Amino acid sequence: MYAQMVTSEASNEDPEKLAAFQARIDAGEKIEPKDWMPEGYRKTLIRQIGQHAHSEIVGQLPEGNWITRAPTLERKAILLAKVQDEAGHGLYLYCAAETLGVSRDELTEALLAGKMKYSSIFNYPTLNWADIGAVGWLVDGAAIMNQVPLQRTSFGPYSRAMIRICKEESFHQRQGYDIMMKMAQGTPEQKAMAQDALNRFWYPSLMMFGPSDRDSVHSAQSMAWKIKINTNDELRQKFVDQTVPQAEYLGLTIPDPDLKWNEEKGGYDFSEPDWSEFFEVIKGNGPCNAERMEARQKAWDDGAWFRDGLMAHAKKRAAARVAAE
Ligand code: 3HC
Repeated sequence: MYAQMVTSEASNEDPEKLAAFQARIDAGEKIEPKDWMPEGYRKTLIRQIGQHAHSEIVGQLPEGNWITRAPTLERKAILLAKVQDEAGHGLYLYCAAETLGVSRDELTEALLAGKMKYSSIFNYPTLNWADIGAVGWLVDGAAIMNQVPLQRTSFGPYSRAMIRICKEESFHQRQGYDIMMKMAQGTPEQKAMAQDALNRFWYPSLMMFGPSDRDSVHSAQSMAWKIKINTNDELRQKFVDQTVPQAEYLGLTIPDPDLKWNEEKGGYDFSEPDWSEFFEVIKGNGPCNAERMEARQKAWDDGAWFRDGLMAHAKKRAAARVAAE
């Protein structure tokens, strides 16, 4: 439905402007906020960047839950730094979305009203410390796979935000893999915890790349506008091909009996996630959706006084500047 709306809006646009715009995209030019753009391009960017930003902020919750329970002071410091980075990623992305004429408040209210999404992966619980390793290794690993191509996205502010974010993501993935290595090489109980975490996070991590290409409603248009550089399945395949050897190095088993190297394809054949589970989770029926939304709603309500104070102060300063002119 959304894809038709976007293309139908494209058909309402001035054909000459549309053709000139597409020529800029095809030439690999960056589109900047003040440039002419089709309404559908703007709407798609607000949707994708806004949901990306929401994912960064909601993504702090499952890991933040373990900061006070990290096994050592060093692990606590590392996790603190990572969770703080994610807040910064959300900031860059909300700023990029604001250049399209939408405010952070509107985006947050749309999220809280269930009109915008965040990444499905953050609706799964982090039950123990091995899960924090699996999140860093698999979730940030998948995020890197998805975000590196986005550094070349056609919208300037999004591309520049991605360049900054990708620099920090590699540390996120590395610290997670380091936790998994310590546990896989630890006691039998620790190795069993690492395997259990891999079992529970493997398929939800594959879902992060979105539905299969046959069910992706936005890919065609998003790729035509170079908002999206690769299809969902292309990136999922790259993620599997990169991650299987890492699991083998840890001595852990990918929970997929049909995983097999395909020489002809030059990649692994693997089982798809349970797409009915995926669509249930993004509809709001995952294990932690309600908990995550309650936490975001509480943070939004608790912060109202601070936002109001900031705005009042900004208005007072602006009025004083006008009076002084
Ligand atoms: N979780 C939630 N919703 C998802 C999803 C997921 N994993 N994958 C797809 N969807 C939604 C889409 O948003 C769309 O719904 P909408 O029309 O209401 O927005 C619908 O499912 C159809 O999917 P499409 O493939 O047609 O949608 P897209 O073309 O937008 O592709 C995407 C989905 C690949 C996630 C793309 O939006 C994208 O690349 N987004 C930017 C990256 C991003 O948001 N990553 C999220 C993780 S951020 C993160 O991991 C933080 C890190 O620090 C840990």
